[in-house]
Amino acid sequence: MTDPTHPRAQAHGAPATDAPAAAAAPQACDTPAAARQARRPALVVGLTGGIGSGKTTVADRFGALGVTLVDTDLIAHGLTGPDGAAMPAIREAFGGSVIAADGRLDRAAMRELAFGDPQARKRLERILHPMIRDESDRQLAHAASAYAILVVPLLVEGGKPRERVQRVLVIDCRPETQIERVMRRNALPREQVLAILGAQASREQRLAAADDLIDNDGSPDTLDERVGALHQRYLALAAG
Ligand SMILES: Nc1ncnc2c1ncn2[C@@H]1O[C@H](COP(=O)(O)OP(=O)(O)O)[C@@H](O)[C@H]1O
Ligand SMILES: [Mg+2]
Repeated sequence: MTDPTHPRAQAHGAPATDAPAAAAAPQACDTPAAARQARRPALVVGLTGGIGSGKTTVADRFGALGVTLVDTDLIAHGLTGPDGAAMPAIREAFGGSVIAADGRLDRAAMRELAFGDPQARKRLERILHPMIRDESDRQLAHAASAYAILVVPLLVEGGKPRERVQRVLVIDCRPETQIERVMRRNALPREQVLAILGAQASREQRLAAADDLIDNDGSPDTLDERVGALHQRYLALAAG
């Protein structure tokens, strides 16, 4: 699942996010969950990888080919934004100390709370995860392409990834590459990046769960060919 205390939103001085600013605020669901599940595209590919591996970079390339992207990280940000649908429950569970002045989840405060109280993270996940799943299903039901990509940063950590997706696509690179990229992107000190990496699945665990792999240690120019080949493969799989 997605990491509710992802550092992206609280970088110091750096662009707050590598994602489009307008994370769609989740809409109210008016369709029963089972019906929405039934309306999924023929193939849903789960795209995952460690922090800074290049998930967003790769997902955007599939998006450029017209593939519907559903990003659980963006959904989580929408749910925990100033008017986010999860904020009333979060306020009730944790009080005002984890809520920023503009009404969004104060990720730094939440992380601190979770650090001292492991149950707090679980409580937050119990609030967020069902809402993220509902909104993911809703967006998948509107997929305009033959297959869709569901971006789930912590797909492997959540266990049983194939209950949510038919294939697992792992974006892979060396930990040192991840560390350098995240330090730069989020203006975070090395120790903090190491702590985040340490809380995620290992590279080996992720590789063991992969059906498909994209090596993103090299130049981004090399991605198009690999993405194009996988795109053809997924189109063929979706056509059955
Ligand atoms: N192949 C690459 N070469 C150099 N920089 C890259 C490459 N892929 C991604 N990046 C940069 O590294 C950072 C992390 O990539 P991103 O796609 O945001 O990772 P994730 O979504 O997995 O956290 C971003 O700043 C991105 O622009
Ligand atoms: Mg990303």
